[in-house]
Amino acid sequence: MPLLFKKIIVAVFAVAFLAAVIFVGLIERERARPEKAAVAYADEKTRACIACHEEKGIAVDWNRQWAQSRHGEMGIGCIACHEAKPDDPDKWEHEGSLLTHAPSPNDCATCHETTVKEFAQSHHAKAAQFIGSLDNILGEVIEGGPAANLGCKQCHGSTVAMDEKGVPVVGTWPNTGIGRVNPDGSLGSCTACHTRHRFSKQQAREPRTCGRCHMGPDHPQIEIYEESKHGLLFAAFREDMALDADEWIVGKDYTAAPTCATCHVSATSNLAVNHDVGLRISWTLRPLYSKKQDKWEERRNRMQSVCLRCHANTWVSHYFRMYDDAVDLWNTKFAAPAENILESLKSAGKITPTPFDDPIEWTFYELWHHEGRRARMGASMMGPDFTQWHGFYEVGKHFYNEYLPEAENLLPGVADSVLQMPEHAWKQGMTPEQIRKMLEFYQQRYGQKVQ
Ligand code: HEC
Ligand code: HEC
Ligand code: HEC
Ligand code: HEC
Ligand code: HEC
Ligand code: HEC
Ligand code: HEC
Ligand code: HEC
Repeated sequence: MPLLFKKIIVAVFAVAFLAAVIFVGLIERERARPEKAAVAYADEKTRACIACHEEKGIAVDWNRQWAQSRHGEMGIGCIACHEAKPDDPDKWEHEGSLLTHAPSPNDCATCHETTVKEFAQSHHAKAAQFIGSLDNILGEVIEGGPAANLGCKQCHGSTVAMDEKGVPVVGTWPNTGIGRVNPDGSLGSCTACHTRHRFSKQQAREPRTCGRCHMGPDHPQIEIYEESKHGLLFAAFREDMALDADEWIVGKDYTAAPTCATCHVSATSNLAVNHDVGLRISWTLRPLYSKKQDKWEERRNRMQSVCLRCHANTWVSHYFRMYDDAVDLWNTKFAAPAENILESLKSAGKITPTPFDDPIEWTFYELWHHEGRRARMGASMMGPDFTQWHGFYEVGKHFYNEYLPEAENLLPGVADSVLQMPEHAWKQGMTPEQIRKMLEFYQQRYGQKVQ
């Protein structure tokens, strides 16, 4: 290769390299600019926090996240949330300032009063108050304290205790459970959905934010959502969702798909953003039986008005009717009979009053707490596989093949009246006509008999 040619190639590469360096440099400068501005305009104490933490290498990324956040942009410094008053129960002396280690909703309330009030009225705020529940006996007693600290309480919230210096007591913190009980008496943790220090609404609109807790065998909302048409449309047209919009009104700013926030929290043209996630739900699907909530019609109207931003009337009203029927089916066919049987076993002394010490109590628990909930939850949020295969199918399988036989074993005859219900009559034997149809189906489709 001639020397000149080599020189030209080297020169071309050198220029390209230089251009790339300058380009990246410009981008970096652009990115750094707002952060610098945030720090430059911040109050003096905040600048001191940042400078010292940068120097000592303490959680420096929080500084950057803060600087890029809406708070940083608006000059709302570290001190706005972390400062404590001398009579605050969570006060903490830190480098000459009176601070709080773990800001609570009360620390946000100075500026976000309405939001904090709405949140305080929600079931979310009360989520750590489950001491009397069967689940709690499972977590704290049958499993054990350390399991509950890093299990139940990470979703539901711990009761945060501070030592005399204002440092959180181990075991009670770190914790950002949704109903955390704070030393100042306030309930909840805003960081459960708005991670620090971005405190972004964009992130809170993401289904995964809710899915951190709303998942798993007993409340698989994220799985249901991801398998529903709504979830698949969200994945397919994510870029049309305007998740970073300041105002985010369904039907106006986006129409591609609803997220959890769309249906439960965010604004429509006639509903404002509301941090009480229960305001739009009419049933409660968590207990053994589902009941309609107080003022359920108002709640349902709110939810339906969300659907109606995208769907038409008949679609929405028929869907809710089918959902109600599925909930009633669970209540009457399985929940009530299963409970009656358990009561009979208890009063006959066949099982003890202590929960979970008799195997049938585990069968009963899974029947309603896992399978029966999944069936209802699938029906509520357009997840047919959860209504059917993870839901009613499992209910049927375990009700007939485990629960009833176990009960009969303990107290023969206890299931008689249940089996006389018309819903369970098929157990006495299907009609020859039904059996003939079934055999014909397999004969026609596969040329073989099912058995
Ligand atoms: C002169 C240095 C200095 C200043 C100023 C300073 N900090 Fe710190 N900060 C530290 C050091 C060192 C640590 C890590 C050691 C510790 O936990 O005390 C720390 C830790 C923290 C922690 C975490 C404690 C833990 O262990 O989890 C918080 C919260 C905190 N600082 C908040 C602030 C805030 C808010 C400000 C400004 C109002 C501030 N700091 C100002 C030096 C400083
Ligand atoms: C909008 C309110 C808000 C602002 C502003 C804010 N923080 Fe925080 N900070 C929080 C909350 C909430 C937590 C989480 C406390 C908890 O555990 O519940 C936290 C936690 C922390 C922690 C300890 C958590 C860890 O991961 O170790 C540090 C350190 C901290 N903040 C530093 C800062 C610094 C430095 C600034 C300013 C650059 C700042 N914060 C600004 C609300 C705020
Ligand atoms: C000193 C006042 C102040 C405090 C304290 C404060 N905020 Fe804010 N916050 C603001 C202002 C102002 C905005 C911008 C409002 C707007 O965009 O309309 C904002 C915006 C927000 C947003 C929306 C950000 C976005 O993506 O647009 C969230 C979420 C938020 N704050 C959460 C919190 C939480 C949680 C706390 C307590 C840990 C808190 N704030 C404490 C003043 C404050
Ligand atoms: C992955 C997060 C997560 C874990 C871990 C978890 N839960 Fe839950 N729990 C939830 C969610 C989310 C709900 C609400 C489900 C719904 O509304 O559909 C819930 C509901 C409940 C309820 C029903 C509350 C009511 O109002 O009826 C109780 C009681 C409960 N959980 C207790 C516990 C206990 C005790 C543990 C540990 C043994 C535990 N949970 C573990 C997330 C969790
Ligand atoms: C269950 C999750 C969740 C929790 C917990 C939560 N938020 Fe939000 N927050 C959201 C969602 C979702 C949005 C976005 C609403 C929208 O679409 O504009 C939001 C938006 C906001 C906004 C922007 C203004 C607005 O109303 O749209 C502020 C401010 C805010 N939250 C403050 C808080 C404070 C303060 C707390 C604690 C009391 C808190 N949030 C707890 C989910 C949550
Ligand atoms: C940190 C865990 C956690 C996160 C994150 C979370 N939730 Fe929850 N949610 C719970 C728990 C726990 C309950 C049950 C509370 C109870 O009844 O004790 C619950 C209950 C609910 C309920 C039932 C309310 C009622 O009044 O019956 C709805 C609806 C709900 N959550 C929606 C959401 C949405 C939407 C998001 C995201 C924007 C979200 N949640 C984020 C833990 C969480
Ligand atoms: C298309 C709107 C829509 C979307 C999207 C949606 N939901 Fe729902 N959700 C509903 C409806 C409708 C109900 C039942 C309301 C009723 O009972 O009246 C419900 C019920 C619930 C409940 C109450 C369960 C109980 O125990 O009573 C929770 C919790 C919940 N949704 C969480 C979520 C989460 C988390 C997501 C996202 C992963 C989500 N939802 C996505 C519409 C939606
Ligand atoms: C942001 C717009 C939007 C909102 C809000 C919305 N949907 Fe949808 N929904 C859609 C779209 C788009 C489809 C897919 C239509 C198709 O199949 O082509 C869909 C599909 C459905 C389906 C069909 C599911 C399937 O598997 O075929 C049902 C049922 C449904 N929605 C009910 C509801 C209900 C009930 C609500 C309110 C609780 C609601 N939707 C809220 C946009 C929305």
